[in-house]
Amino acid sequence: MRKIEVSPSILAADFSKLGVEVKKIEDVANYVHIDVMDGHFVPNLTFGYIVARAVKSVTDLPLDSHLMVENPESLVDEFCEISEIVTVHYETTYHLHRLIQRIKEKEVKAFVALNPHTSVELLEDIIMDVDGVLVMSVNPGFGGQKFIPNVLNKIRKLNDIKKETGLTFKIEVDGGINEETFESVVNAGADILVAGSYIFGSDDPVEAVKILKGQSRNISEG
Ligand code: DX5
Ligand code: ZN
Repeated sequence: MRKIEVSPSILAADFSKLGVEVKKIEDVANYVHIDVMDGHFVPNLTFGYIVARAVKSVTDLPLDSHLMVENPESLVDEFCEISEIVTVHYETTYHLHRLIQRIKEKEVKAFVALNPHTSVELLEDIIMDVDGVLVMSVNPGFGGQKFIPNVLNKIRKLNDIKKETGLTFKIEVDGGINEETFESVVNAGADILVAGSYIFGSDDPVEAVKILKGQSRNISEG
């Protein structure tokens, strides 16, 4: 049975008490998802290394850092110091292969993210080098948006590539994941679910994580 992991996004948490918020999900989540936005690649500005490091200091959960920034080369070294996964967007770099190698040299898992319009086929010559693909199921920049159903095809294509090639990269899905959308995402082949507003907007964040993981256990492999 495929094990589904959950990565709660603190973008939807109360920024005035991030430590308290992260502690809420510490016993049930697999990662803390860190959404770094620069106000250029995406139309929103969040936080950088200093705040992410402060989050790291209050939790034993590994950080899953999602860099939505122009020039990710300027940030990856710092984020590699504090993260288990560092994700860079396909759309943000001319030298993806070099950047992926730089992350992996630091023994950090290197993921590549795809905006909703970016085709899986573009990964043909890099897929064997990445530890994971983050499929954006909303346009990056904001929490609380509606899931884009067309991305299910991309998840299925990635799952087919894994089956055909034997590669073991993880498929992570980010945006609009909630109790109505997660099953189709898991059935299409997702391994890691990112959820912000569904988890931190809930009265019971622990139960919300368990729903994404627990119900997933009853779903057969895609
Ligand atoms: C969007 C971010 C997501 C966001 C998801 O740009 O990458 O991680 O926090 O938020 P929800 O789960 O509310 O769609
Ligand atoms: Zn994200």
